[in-house]
Amino acid sequence: MSINTEFWNKAARKYAKRPVQDEAAYELTLDRTRSYLHADDRVLEIGCGTGTTALKLADAVNHITGTDVATGMIDIAREKAQGVANVDFSPMAVPGGTPPEAAPYEVVMAFNLLHLIEDTEAVLAQVHGMLKPGGLFISKTVGLADKGAWMRLLISAMRLIGKAPYVKYFRIAEIDDHITRAGFEIIETGNYPASPPNHFVVARKL
Ligand SMILES: C[S@@+](CC[C@H](N)C(=O)[O-])C[C@H]1O[C@@H](n2cnc3c(N)ncnc32)[C@H](O)[C@@H]1O
Repeated sequence: MSINTEFWNKAARKYAKRPVQDEAAYELTLDRTRSYLHADDRVLEIGCGTGTTALKLADAVNHITGTDVATGMIDIAREKAQGVANVDFSPMAVPGGTPPEAAPYEVVMAFNLLHLIEDTEAVLAQVHGMLKPGGLFISKTVGLADKGAWMRLLISAMRLIGKAPYVKYFRIAEIDDHITRAGFEIIETGNYPASPPNHFVVARKL
């Protein structure tokens, strides 16, 4: 099983410059996420990229640890975090990596990540293990199941030459099933944007 560290390291500077693709969907995601956060929460974000979301949500919680497999992403996140006292960024791969701040957390977040990881069960089991009882997993995962065969072929070809990462073609119901089977109760879902669906889930650890 491969983790595309090299791909994401190379992509980091370009990713940092890319504008948010759907501003309204992003703002809605932030608002819905924020509505679940508390001032004393310790939060872990996995696959945090260049840290934008963690930095935007920092004022709502006690502390956020942003983690990502790509040191290139973490370097940029650290540059952006200068002067923000309650956010730290560290390299960490999932599944398997150890967070720098000891678990358990009140909240674990994973935005635009699960469809990029081969072993969904393993990463969800790890998230479950890093949460306090009753803790929240808040995620967004792109559902690409309806992408045509030609698009899948194109992505496979690009992968061969290192121009695309591993991608999983989830149906929305499959994402919810995976999360439920990992020992969570889903308490909110939405698709922001609706097409292709970027599936927002808030789930409580049972
Ligand atoms: C599409 S970007 C999303 C970044 C950010 N969460 C956002 O919503 O803008 C996916 C991020 O996940 C990271 N990533 C990919 N596979 C990972 C893994 N196995 N463990 C940790 N991070 C991973 C990549 O380095 C990249 O920064």
